[in-house]
Amino acid sequence: MSGREIENKVSHLLARMTLAEKLGQLQQLDGTWDGDVRPEQIKLAREGLLGSAIYVYDARRTTELQRVAMTESKLKIPILFAFDVVHGYRTIFPVPLGEAASWDPAVVEQADSIAASEASAAGIRWTFAPMVDIARDPRWGRIVEGSGEDPFLGAGMASAAVRGFQGTNYGSPGKIIACPKHWVAYGAAEGGRDYNTAEVSERTLREIYFPPFKAAIDAGAGSIMSAFNDLDGVPCTANSFLLTDVLRDEWHFHGIVISDWNAVNELIAHGVAANGKDAAAEALTAGVGMEMFSRLYNQYGEQLVAQGRIPVATIDRAVRRVLEAKYKLGLFEHPYADEALENAELLSPANLAAARELAARTFVLLKNDHDTLPLSRNLKSVAVIGPLADDTQSLLGPWSGDGHKEDAVTLLAGIHAKIPQAKIVYAKGCDVTGDSRTGFEEAIKAATESDFTILVVGESADMSGEAASRSSLDLPGQQLALIQAIHAIGKPYAVVLMNGRPLSIDWAATNSPAILETWFSGTEGGNAVADTLFGDTDPGGKLPVTFPRSVGQVPDYYNHKSTGRPPGVTKDYSGYSDILWTPLYPFGYGLSYTQFKLSNLQLSAARIHRDGTITVGVEVENTGDRAGDEVVQLYIHDLVASVTRPVEALKGFKRVSLQPGENRHVEFTLGPKELGFYNRAMRFVVEPGTFNVMVGDNSHDGLKSSFEVVP
Ligand code: NOJ
Repeated sequence: MSGREIENKVSHLLARMTLAEKLGQLQQLDGTWDGDVRPEQIKLAREGLLGSAIYVYDARRTTELQRVAMTESKLKIPILFAFDVVHGYRTIFPVPLGEAASWDPAVVEQADSIAASEASAAGIRWTFAPMVDIARDPRWGRIVEGSGEDPFLGAGMASAAVRGFQGTNYGSPGKIIACPKHWVAYGAAEGGRDYNTAEVSERTLREIYFPPFKAAIDAGAGSIMSAFNDLDGVPCTANSFLLTDVLRDEWHFHGIVISDWNAVNELIAHGVAANGKDAAAEALTAGVGMEMFSRLYNQYGEQLVAQGRIPVATIDRAVRRVLEAKYKLGLFEHPYADEALENAELLSPANLAAARELAARTFVLLKNDHDTLPLSRNLKSVAVIGPLADDTQSLLGPWSGDGHKEDAVTLLAGIHAKIPQAKIVYAKGCDVTGDSRTGFEEAIKAATESDFTILVVGESADMSGEAASRSSLDLPGQQLALIQAIHAIGKPYAVVLMNGRPLSIDWAATNSPAILETWFSGTEGGNAVADTLFGDTDPGGKLPVTFPRSVGQVPDYYNHKSTGRPPGVTKDYSGYSDILWTPLYPFGYGLSYTQFKLSNLQLSAARIHRDGTITVGVEVENTGDRAGDEVVQLYIHDLVASVTRPVEALKGFKRVSLQPGENRHVEFTLGPKELGFYNRAMRFVVEPGTFNVMVGDNSHDGLKSSFEVVP
């Protein structure tokens, strides 16, 4: 159907709707948390008052509710089924922070494309993903749901996610509507406490927090979610600067704006609305089109219109967007999911194979003294130790859609499958949290009697995600003591981390021979980790977020400002008296089983005009004796400008796979989009002057050059 035809159909339908029915289209209501329809939803669907449902999933149950809307309601408008399909629907992929560690947008695109085909087969046509909040504070539990600390990497992943979920047209079979969230600066919550206040300057909003949202919208995202938080005194759900001035007027966004869960009602707790009616008026006026969970539009919408507080045109505009999406999705013609398709799609062999392959691309090798890894398949005996080695639930990570823990392959199972002939002894050692060390003895015995120990520690899945902030970044419970006990034996071992945030693992980084970061790697995680431990895949990922030495360094991000007293220049500098100011592992860091050499950094010009572009080229060579992956990263620094600029900012990255001895030329282009910034008048400009360029394999080291921008 063409855009014009859809517009006509929507106008025709709108003309037949009562105000109550219109407000019904702006209501999203939840099913039971495990996917069942609630009687109240049936009643509202029958009355034509339920625009969208959340937490009703699978083909049978979505069809049950849809049938009521399509056969018993007056206007027969289909319900739009939504769900948090964040890193997979039933086949679960690595958590988004892990996917970002691949530094490969194709990983995100493929995972989200499979997630969309599974979800749509189960009747879900709208996901609340990707989460594109920049997170500079690892105490914040939701850092796991996003792409980390950098706007450029985040923007690349955001557009890949939208392409994955929606394709070029979300109405195509197997595609669903994406919803970048949470608009905006939710990740800047004070103290890392979820739902907390954010105070962020407009410049920082525009340069750091906005870009992934802009990228998602430019990629065609069909919806966006307003955030819970207060931003500079105005909660995002009542913030017309964000929802109307930026989103609609500057960015020309035409899709649905939905509130976060109960966020319209929470305007009362924020203290900007005295009651439910005022809260509804605030959110509608600012530009929130659909209300999730709370019912205030429906309760007070008619009164607000009658009293002249909300023009009916505001309601019509919002309803139009919802109906347009339903027509574009083809829901009027095909309202029901197909159980046969669902059976064929969910956990299909192809989807599981992709989950295994993609997961392996997200692992980051943090340390590997004396080539401890990869392991030989000829090992006679291996001890697998740690509370996460056989934990199916944690492997799936938070927000794991309709993932079933029974589907998940643990690392213990993956190792059994990889070396079936070896003697494998498993000992839990301790729990993730708690004080008990009663399992240490068994673990020490297992490690002592084995040729090699794989020590699987970190966080359980419920320690990150929503409402899961931590005040410490240390390994919880007795896990560090467990590492130290195994270390004391003096036999070879490797630490495998599973976690949803950077951890302060200073002791292990100093003392343990090898550390592999695997995040929460999904349904096939155990197989994928085993593939990497035994060298069938190279750990080519890089950190999408800085790992601090201690929580006291937080916020600790690579693209910080210089300050007037940067380290290394004066005796009294911006650092700490009790700890080094540098991070434990910088943004972009990660080793490989092979070695790479970067050389021959070349710029296409010594100077360019402010509207011009410059090409930065470099050679990357695999100088080791194994195939492997390197991520070539380009950073810039604008030395002198009218406002302070970050000491470095990522402006290009490319992951390459190279055979031993193979050489590749990698090229990046820098132009106004990369070189510009918001000046004192908040205008986006490129200013003349010197730009330093660094091309490296992390944000800390690399080849350097510079060029001039002339007026
Ligand atoms: C609240 C979360 O903040 C949001 O990300 C999610 O999409 C909704 N709940 C619905 O589950």
